[in-house]
Amino acid sequence: MQSLTSPFYPTTVTRNNLDQDSIPIEPSFFIRDIPFHGRVCLSPMAGVSDSPHRLLARRFGSAWSYTEFVAAEQILIGNPKTIKLFSYSEEERPVTFQIFGNSIETITEAAIRIEPLKPDIIDLNMGCSTHRVSQRGSGAGLLKNLPLAGKMIESLRKNCKVPITAKIRIGWDNENLNYKDTIRSLQDSGVEAISVHGRTKEMSYNGLANWDVIAEIKSLANVPIFGNGDINSYPQINKRLQESRVDAVLIGRGAIGNPWIFSGIEKEDLDFDEINKVAKIHYDMMVDFYTREHAFRLFKKYFKNYTEQFDFYREKRDEILRIQDPSEFEDSWESSIFQLV
Ligand SMILES: Cc1cc2nc3c(=O)[nH]c(=O)nc-3n(C[C@H](O)[C@H](O)[C@H](O)COP(=O)(O)O)c2cc1C
Repeated sequence: MQSLTSPFYPTTVTRNNLDQDSIPIEPSFFIRDIPFHGRVCLSPMAGVSDSPHRLLARRFGSAWSYTEFVAAEQILIGNPKTIKLFSYSEEERPVTFQIFGNSIETITEAAIRIEPLKPDIIDLNMGCSTHRVSQRGSGAGLLKNLPLAGKMIESLRKNCKVPITAKIRIGWDNENLNYKDTIRSLQDSGVEAISVHGRTKEMSYNGLANWDVIAEIKSLANVPIFGNGDINSYPQINKRLQESRVDAVLIGRGAIGNPWIFSGIEKEDLDFDEINKVAKIHYDMMVDFYTREHAFRLFKKYFKNYTEQFDFYREKRDEILRIQDPSEFEDSWESSIFQLV
């Protein structure tokens, strides 16, 4: 398959700034002494927001990068596959490494181990709702034990040089919307920014993110607040920023197969060729980062999203997605486009 990694498309897209097209001279906000240019960022997604995806997002305008969450225990074991999750390109800076755990000692030791990999920030995950994580008191489980979360932040602050942030949900369930206590406890412990996914742990990914609560958190907080949940278009980015006054928004699912969301281009306005060109760049970036076989398997989830708006391609796309061999996949993809021209 032809390599499309250079020159990068679209060359005119610069870092996101909602007021102007060029990289702003004035940073949008700081975390300690780190300037952030732009107010939109790709949200961390395990198995999705890998280095190629983040780099693509950055080139389209995502203002910084979050690595996928990694268990503190796994960092201490030092499995190379785990450590590869912290790979990033210099272009992605500022880079936030995200970790999770349920013990002060383990989380602190893990952070000390990864600091030499030179992240700009380390983030404590307090939002993961999966049973495996939250029932063990990690991720969103920490929302039920704020003294422990606070002590973790204190210990991370004491033992790490880089700023420490946290990503939370608004509570465990609707009867326990303890976001005010969570913010207070994290701030008192020295947290330097907080991302808020506007759902409870019990909601998982159901229902709608509560942006009123996110706005309330912003009005109460004295550290940068990043709002997150259900943003699927550029107009929504502007609406959420304006209405909630958060310092930035994070976009997760809405950015899968849609890096244009970071640049103000509506994907619906693009034709098949343009979308396909970027999809191929994304695939090539993954092939460079992983082995071809691995990239091919992982790419399928993006491939579906890239072309989902084209009804005429659905049948062909589903046929391509069933292919189990990388060369066959590449050939079939290439020829499917050729047939359309
Ligand atoms: C597949 C998947 C993996 C995720 N992994 C993480 C993760 O590793 N760390 C994290 O903080 N949040 C994770 N999230 C949550 C997202 O960062 C985000 O908070 C959530 O999807 C809501 O934002 P959205 O509506 O823009 O997708 C994940 C979400 C998805 C869908």
